[in-house]
Amino acid sequence: MLDYELLDFGNCLKLERFGPNIIARPEKTALKLPNIDSDLWTLDARCVNKGQKSYQWHFEDSFKEPWRCTWNELSFELRATISNNIGIFPEQAANWQWISEHISAPCKVLNLFGYTGAASLVAAQQGASVCHVDASKSAVSWARKNQLLSGLESAPIRWINDDALSFVLREQRRSSFYDALILDPPAFGKSSAGVFKFVDNIMPLLQACQKILVNKPQFILLNCYATGLNPEQAQDILRSVFPSLNISCGELRLSTTQGRALSCSVFARATSI
Ligand SMILES: C[S@@+](CC[C@H](N)C(=O)[O-])C[C@H]1O[C@@H](n2cnc3c(N)ncnc32)[C@H](O)[C@@H]1O
Repeated sequence: MLDYELLDFGNCLKLERFGPNIIARPEKTALKLPNIDSDLWTLDARCVNKGQKSYQWHFEDSFKEPWRCTWNELSFELRATISNNIGIFPEQAANWQWISEHISAPCKVLNLFGYTGAASLVAAQQGASVCHVDASKSAVSWARKNQLLSGLESAPIRWINDDALSFVLREQRRSSFYDALILDPPAFGKSSAGVFKFVDNIMPLLQACQKILVNKPQFILLNCYATGLNPEQAQDILRSVFPSLNISCGELRLSTTQGRALSCSVFARATSI
């Protein structure tokens, strides 16, 4: 279980507890009215949208940073960053659970767009050899820190700071094969190789990935944030490149204790039949 609660959401904001800190952040999809007026929320830090993807944090004296959040003996360092992210996406806990249930070690897992390493550490915890790729140097060093905090310092994880497609093409040339693939591409991202645009680049990337996967991969997990896709479209994307796999799809959601659900992203999950 993640040490986390979605306490309230609405007015394009969400109120969350991560371990000891309660924070409020902008959330485009929180279009409803909140349960409690968001100006009256009790919190330790508030992140305010300043427009043009710029954010400003306001901290109460009670706010402690950096701080930690745990999931199944993994420990993640959290920080209030200028992008409004804090180091993990709590809704991903459902994907972590699915990954941990579908890994059969020994195996090689490739995690593209891996950010601060949560999914990589979940795979490593299950005994997989992991290759984690992210274009952001700071995300990769944060991920390495999470590896240490999680007590997995001797786990076989390669931390690669590179563009996802460039790395996959290099692995193709080296005839390096993987048993499973995790990818969580952004709608729009930047790397040393240029700009990654989901709509233009997801198909070439998946086609390249297909060439470095074994014939019967253990699983493929495609997660998509802010792409405007519905789950069936995410499923169709995977199916067009991997027609022989068994594919399901859905939404990642967070629920408040009162049972109000906030939709966060869509996913498609494939396994070999
Ligand atoms: C949505 S986050 C991934 C979240 C992650 N899967 C998790 O659950 O913690 C997207 C990540 O993609 C990375 N990124 C963006 N463009 C990239 C590219 N062309 N190649 C590799 N990584 C990229 C960003 O640095 C960011 O860490």
